[in-house]
Amino acid sequence: MPNHKTVKEYIRTIVDFPHEGIMFRDVTTLFSDPRGFRMAIDQMLHPFAGMQIDKVVGLEARGFILGGAIAHQLTVGFVPVRKKGKLPGPVISEDYTLEYGEAVVEIHDDAIEAGEKILVVDDLLATGGTAAAGIRLIERLGGEIVGTSFIVDLPDLGGREKLEKMGIEVEALCA
Ligand code: PRP
Ligand code: ADE
Repeated sequence: MPNHKTVKEYIRTIVDFPHEGIMFRDVTTLFSDPRGFRMAIDQMLHPFAGMQIDKVVGLEARGFILGGAIAHQLTVGFVPVRKKGKLPGPVISEDYTLEYGEAVVEIHDDAIEAGEKILVVDDLLATGGTAAAGIRLIERLGGEIVGTSFIVDLPDLGGREKLEKMGIEVEALCA
């Protein structure tokens, strides 16, 4: 029997993780399936076909898995945006708020050159706080955002609206 599962059907929801009331969308079940993982990478890239992309930026942590695969597919470099204190070299930082907390993200201050065209990737868009902070870091270094690509958009949390108000293209595979 051929397997016709959609990307969404590979994702499971864990109730009350990491806190009570959060319905956590767990993409590890998508990543661990060879067909599901390839389908997700191909679909995330599709809207940006033919566009100039100089680097892919992945947001910690699951954005590293997606961003690495996408950068490899495009034969471009990969740059991590990490939580505070994880990057070894000189960094710039941005504060942000999350669906369940507050945090700081950082990027190496020499990771992007002015004028480079950047695709930002992550597994999930909720409030948009993480992505917006990542975008601010990239723009402070002079990078130009080509767009953002997510597997899941949780539309009730307003992330898409927030990013679109910043003039950012938002692509997501499912809600
Ligand atoms: C999750 C997810 C996104 C972010 C989305 O990561 O992978 O990065 O939340 O939420 P937002 O749109 O409200 O900012 P999380 O902060 O749980 O960190 P982790 O990937 O390091 O576990
Ligand atoms: N990040 C913020 N909200 C999330 C959710 N509901 N599932 C997975 N990651 C998240």
